[in-house]
Amino acid sequence: MVPGKSIASRPELKTSSDKACPEQGRRIEIIRGDITKLDVDAIVNAANTTLLGGGGVDGAIHRAAGPELLAECQTLGSCRPGEAKITSGYNLPARFVIHTVGPVWSGGNRCEAEILANCYKNSLRLALEKGIRSIAFPAISCGAYRYPIAEAARIAMETTRDFLETEDKIDKVTFVLTGDEIFEAYHRLL
Ligand code: APR
Repeated sequence: MVPGKSIASRPELKTSSDKACPEQGRRIEIIRGDITKLDVDAIVNAANTTLLGGGGVDGAIHRAAGPELLAECQTLGSCRPGEAKITSGYNLPARFVIHTVGPVWSGGNRCEAEILANCYKNSLRLALEKGIRSIAFPAISCGAYRYPIAEAARIAMETTRDFLETEDKIDKVTFVLTGDEIFEAYHRLL
């Protein structure tokens, strides 16, 4: 982010705060845009278990970060759904990339909700461990993994809110969303 220039003052980006809990609302925001452009401590990648890149936001992050990101990912081994691993951000404005693997939607009877909640929990825990104070998430599993958007948004927001209630060392969580349907699904929850 441009220092001192809040998201809200940038017309092209829309943000919302949580009226119900003003303090926490200032710590959670939603914006439209490209997560690879965000100048935050860490952006989260919706990766696959190989951590070797792919399409969607995974492809965008690898393209923007450059080949060194893949080289570091190759040292990490694989990543189980719901887990999170961290690398440098290389050519990205973000200092770190936290790679997590969302569940593939298979109807809801294969612990998809629990796995998706773990993606947010484990990414936030890892951020805390590394002293990261600003973190941005895409809508994990809402693309190729076909997770129903309203439910995925609810899990993302509730898991993040619960986490921030117990931890005050993370200043800002930004959900970076593409498309009206996803933006509205998150906006309704703020
Ligand atoms: N910035 C922010 N959000 C983005 C960007 C971007 N640059 N590019 C895509 N998105 C959005 C998509 O529109 C979707 O809403 O990220 C959300 C997640 O979609 P995917 O990237 O398809 O991720 P996911 O559904 O979790 O599937 C992961 O796709 O790319 C592969 O390697 C990846 O196998 C893995 C799978």
